[in-house]
Amino acid sequence: MKKVNIGILGLGTIGSGLYRLIMKNRELIRNKSGIDINIKKASDLNPEKKDELNIDDGVFTTSSDDVVMDDEIDIVVELIGGTAVARDLVKKAIERKKHIVTANKALLARFKNEIFPMLVENRVELGCEASVGGGIPIIRTLKEALVGDSIYKIVGILNGTTNFILTKMVKEGIDFESALRTAQEMGFAEADPTLDISGGDAKHKITILASLAFNTDVDMDRVYTEGIESIEPKDIRFSMEFGFVLKLLAIAEKKDSGIMVRVHPALISSSSPLAAVNWEDNAIMVYSEFLGKSMYYGKGAGAKPTSSAVVANIVDIALKIKSNYEYNSKAYSFFNNLHQLDFNESEARYYFRFNALDRPGILSKISGILGKNNISIASVIQKESEEEGEYVPLVMLTHRALEANVKKAFEEIVNLKEVKGDNKFIRVIDE
Ligand code: HSE
Repeated sequence: MKKVNIGILGLGTIGSGLYRLIMKNRELIRNKSGIDINIKKASDLNPEKKDELNIDDGVFTTSSDDVVMDDEIDIVVELIGGTAVARDLVKKAIERKKHIVTANKALLARFKNEIFPMLVENRVELGCEASVGGGIPIIRTLKEALVGDSIYKIVGILNGTTNFILTKMVKEGIDFESALRTAQEMGFAEADPTLDISGGDAKHKITILASLAFNTDVDMDRVYTEGIESIEPKDIRFSMEFGFVLKLLAIAEKKDSGIMVRVHPALISSSSPLAAVNWEDNAIMVYSEFLGKSMYYGKGAGAKPTSSAVVANIVDIALKIKSNYEYNSKAYSFFNNLHQLDFNESEARYYFRFNALDRPGILSKISGILGKNNISIASVIQKESEEEGEYVPLVMLTHRALEANVKKAFEEIVNLKEVKGDNKFIRVIDE
């Protein structure tokens, strides 16, 4: 039996989940893998965690240095989250030649440039499966299952909170604020859900996936990101008439001219497999040259799914370091240097809703502006006005158009004196 000593940094939701999983399944893991995971130290600033999790004396500590500086620890499992403390601790652990397992997407997305070269310098392993898609084995798929394939597109639902909110809005016709409140009451959304609903969390995750899939250093700050805060029930309703479902999509595409990485609300066909991914679930559709289209689906968040992915990384690393293995310095190398395209260069079909005067000639004015900007209309529906007055929602679906042209045309149309108030466009993704 090969014993591996691990140290856990942070006993929050995931850290506690990991502790419980190992306590419960230590023997199962031993039987399945031949690896005996020994929790040598577990740290948290909150001393009550010791009793809450029933951690032995000598194992629990409130000092993270006790974990990082312990010479007998082989693998440091960083589950603190965020980039402030975690960044220094991970770097300190790598310098001390400790292998790293982390679920920290913000840290990897923001500081991969700093951390990845340190791994090679110190001949240290990194397991980061739990950083994207919770328990879904997507990183392993990109790095191992598809090692012989060339990945050219990823379309993912990578945030459980926003998927829960949108599912609630679609199924119950309620507004964003009410759906968010339910998500918070049910414990899916954080007390401060900003990072989730603004698309920031999905941006971290797609930055990691795209970097690993395309073997290039994706600049997170150049990932176009739009959240779901301004989604209205009426757009969900109107777009359903075109056969669409609204999702927050994270998309990474490789084209001849470069890569395009983005996160935004998108309409997808109700017959797409992604349309059936509901509530807090995540799914990632991967397109590769030889396998073609494949989809990975499951629980994208929560203590149990995430700690299951963490354990898989611990066992993987333990199997390597406890045998006579050769270090693979290519594991996290960016051997491509692909140009990152500007979002304005992206193309999609578009859903427009204009609040326009119900008068002769208005439709032709609007279609004239669209035509001038090289945007071709596929269909138009004029809806009954929801309020008293002469303004009605004019809903349009276009053929493929360029984002830059759409923004220009939209600006021009909303500035017409016959168009007022609340107008909207949403991208339609044909995956
Ligand atoms: N807050 C994330 C989500 C889970 O809602 O998907 C952690 O990545």
